[in-house]
Amino acid sequence: MKIIKTESYNKMSRTAANILSAQVILKSKSVLGLATGSTPVGMYKQLIEWNRKGDVDFSAVTTFNLDEYVGLPANDSNSYSAFMQNMFFNHININPDNVHIPNGMTERVDEECTGYDRQIVEAGGIDIQVLGIGHNGHIGFNEPGVCFMRDTHLVELSESTKEANARFFNGKATVPSCAITMGMGTIMRAKKIVLLCCGKEKAEILKKTIYGDIDPIIPASVLQLHSDVTVIADGPALSAIE
Ligand code: GLP
Repeated sequence: MKIIKTESYNKMSRTAANILSAQVILKSKSVLGLATGSTPVGMYKQLIEWNRKGDVDFSAVTTFNLDEYVGLPANDSNSYSAFMQNMFFNHININPDNVHIPNGMTERVDEECTGYDRQIVEAGGIDIQVLGIGHNGHIGFNEPGVCFMRDTHLVELSESTKEANARFFNGKATVPSCAITMGMGTIMRAKKIVLLCCGKEKAEILKKTIYGDIDPIIPASVLQLHSDVTVIADGPALSAIE
């Protein structure tokens, strides 16, 4: 694992944007795995700016998002689909046909999940997967459990995740109970992984992720087994390690 310490959230975002830009510049038909949450927002802003300046071209890029809430239509402002449109896709020259986000409204969850993994394989696999990390060590919506779930699947959200994400909703009671998420195998098959982490409240979980036992109780700990992971984190997020 490579760890890049940045002096601020802005530097973390810019460093991540640099890595994604380099990927897209070197391979115009790159397949990017993307994440929601507050952490990658600055990276998206930077990429939008460079796209507007003509420095990075997304016209041939394909994207797959990590996850989506079950029961929220794509036009619901709290859906991850709406988040991605507002924060990124509406502002860059990506082909909408190349954007993939699990369909949280499907009545055939199993087909949706197997189809999602199949589409990733057919696209040639994910070149770079961007990840944030939840307070309990979840990545995507892979919650702590007794095993690492391999493929894209339906998941019941933990109470702590609902609490953490309640800030985007009208309180915890309105946070959906379930989500569709890429599995740990789906994520681990990405050729390169970039994990973004900022803030002191993530310091302990980041330490366990990087140096703790590889245990499904800390889902992100499995990243220790991937051969190309870059952690980009600010000082407060790395404060439990130093
Ligand atoms: C959600 C998302 C994750 C994200 C996490 C942390 O649960 N499903 O992909 O990493 O939140 O979000 P934040 O970056 O806002 O702390």
